[in-house]
Order: sequence, then structure tokens, then C-alpha cells
Amino acid sequence: MSTGIAPGKLYLAGEYAVVETGFPAVIASVDQYVKVTVTKAKGSGTIQSKNLNKQLIHWNRQGTELVFDDTESQLAYILTAIKFVERYAIENHKKLAYYDLLVTSELDSDDGKKFGLGSSAAVTVAVVKALGSFYDLDLSKMDVYKLASIAHLSVQGNGSLGDIAASAFGGIIAYKSPDRNWVFNMVRNHSLKKLLKLNWPNLKIEPLHLPKELEMVVGWTGSPASTSILVDRIALTKAQKVEKYQHFLKSSRHSVEQLIKGFRDSDADMIKKMISDYRKVLTDLARFSDVHIETKLLTKLCDIAEKLGGAAKTSGAGGGDCGIVISNKDLNLKHLKNEWEKAGITPLKLKIGEIIDHA
Ligand code: PMV
Ligand code: MG
Repeated sequence: MSTGIAPGKLYLAGEYAVVETGFPAVIASVDQYVKVTVTKAKGSGTIQSKNLNKQLIHWNRQGTELVFDDTESQLAYILTAIKFVERYAIENHKKLAYYDLLVTSELDSDDGKKFGLGSSAAVTVAVVKALGSFYDLDLSKMDVYKLASIAHLSVQGNGSLGDIAASAFGGIIAYKSPDRNWVFNMVRNHSLKKLLKLNWPNLKIEPLHLPKELEMVVGWTGSPASTSILVDRIALTKAQKVEKYQHFLKSSRHSVEQLIKGFRDSDADMIKKMISDYRKVLTDLARFSDVHIETKLLTKLCDIAEKLGGAAKTSGAGGGDCGIVISNKDLNLKHLKNEWEKAGITPLKLKIGEIIDHA
């Protein structure tokens, strides 16, 4: 039996701007994982996951649109990851085989709702790792990132692939997205073997460490959000409000670079300041693009945490999902969690994920 595990993730800063090639973000993996096992089979194979046969599809509204908790598309990520790993296996003269593939996940609530921790990315990474081991492909962390990115990109079509990087590398990372048009063209015209050997233009992944005196606390609003729809809306703004959008990119880069410096220098105050700063960068973006990033409940989540001395912001695309707090370890967690629960926010028992040593 071959196994692949991959953690979920949360954005600490840089969301939306990181979709632009070369713009930085800081992303934390979490200690909740997707696990994939691959067991040799004869004559035919199976794919099994709780998410694939669940009866409930959760949805809510963003303005007048229905937004789905798009777990039903998990199969597309699994199948596409299989397709690319097998293409790579063939290039390496491996003999294709039958197997039973089983996905189990800690990234959903008990009734199957997504917490917004990047489950599609984690599933893609875990499938690449499990099959990579099944076919004896000896994949490095960077190989896993590249194969999973190619698969994820060909299903989702937009996005920075930062969630894939966090899932493949673990810990906390500073991340800059590669030129995805270049990747698209390369996949069409070259072997995966070649593509895995090349340095991808603009891609940067650097491990960072949270200073000992700080911790991350996460609250969940209980409403799903579609990252893909929100990213498309911001793409519209990019064309309509050129100057404001360019200003947003500049402020984003400034805050995130300071944040990364804070991490490198173990400067707790700088880190907290830049987390709060990025909340403002995002609320500004939300205002001029008319995209609902900080929902009422996310505002409550952040305000409660800030009142108690933490630095808080929405995480990722927003519109629901989770908010994060970075605080000193002396913050009264009990009080924070009580206040959150009174407001209808679920504290998640999450910590920052382990750094992944080898794929
Ligand atoms: O909502 P999440 O956790 O999936 O994060 C999305 C982050 C964006 O920058 C908005 C999109 C992306 O692909 O990086
Ligand atoms: Mg989200």
C-alpha cells in the first residue's frame, strides 16, 4: 500500500495580489490533513472518498448568486492528478497498473461542509504523493508541487497555486506564483520530465518560522465561499479600475514584504502590525471592487480578536470561510473563544502544520 498525506492551508497575507505573477504572499499550512492510500488491484480499480457520495450540497448567497461549496468537483482533481502522474510514470518507463485509491480528509466538518482550508489543493497533492510512491517515482517536494500545480491549473483555470505550495512544503512559506501561461504552454509542447527539471519563471518558495512568542488562532464562519468566483470578480475590477487596482498591488507588495522581513527577523510586533495592515489592504480592495470579502461575521471575528489584543484578518478569498488571528501566547484564548461562540463563530482546533521533510 502507498500513502500520501497533505495538509490544508490558510493565507496569512498577500491574497488576491498573489494571483499576479511575481507578487508575494505568506501562507501557513495547518495540522489537518488529507490522506490518500493506493493499493494494488487486479483487473479493475476503484476510487473512494466520503466527499464523492455525500448527499448534501451546501450553498449560500453572494448578492444574487448561488455559491456552492464545490466539493462535488473533487473527482475532477483526483482524476486529473492521476492523469499527469501516470503521464510522468510513462515518461519514466514505468508499467501502469490497477489500484484502489481511497481519500480520507480532516478538512471538512462532520456534516461534510468545507472549512475553506484548501481541500482541493490538498487532495491533489496527496494523490500525487501516493501515486508517486506507488510508481516509485522518487518525487521531491518541488516535483510534487509542480505535478500537482499542473493538475490543479488544468481543472481550476485561475488561482495562484499558493495552496498547492503550502500543501507540498508544510510549515509557513513566503510564496510567489509562477507565470502560469508559460506553464500552460510548456505542458502542451514538452515532456513533464523536462518541465519538472526546469526552474519555473517567477516561482519562489521560502520557508518561514513563526517566532516562539506568537501563535495562530482560527475561527470559522460556517458559510462556504467560492474562491474561483471571487477571483474572477477581482479580475473584472483589474480591467475596469486600472489605477486603483495597481495601487492595491503596490500596497499589497509593500505590506507582504514587510511581513516577510518580520518573519526573517523574528520581529513579533512587525508581524502583527502587517497582519492588521493587510486587513486594511483587503477592505480597501473590497470597497472599490464591490466584492464582498469581509462578511459581517468575519468583521465580528476580527473586531473581537483585535479588542483582545490580537492581529486579525480574513484569510484567503474571504466571503465566508475562516478568519485568522496572530497573537502573543498570553492572549486570553478562553475569552476570545467564548466571545466568538456567542457571535456564532466556531473556533477551529488548528495549529500550524509541520514542515514537510521529504515528499
Ligand atoms: O480562499 P482561499 O483560502 O482558497 O484563498 C484564495 C487566495 C486568493 O489569493 C484569493 C486566490 C489564489 O489562488 O491565490
Ligand atoms: Mg476561502
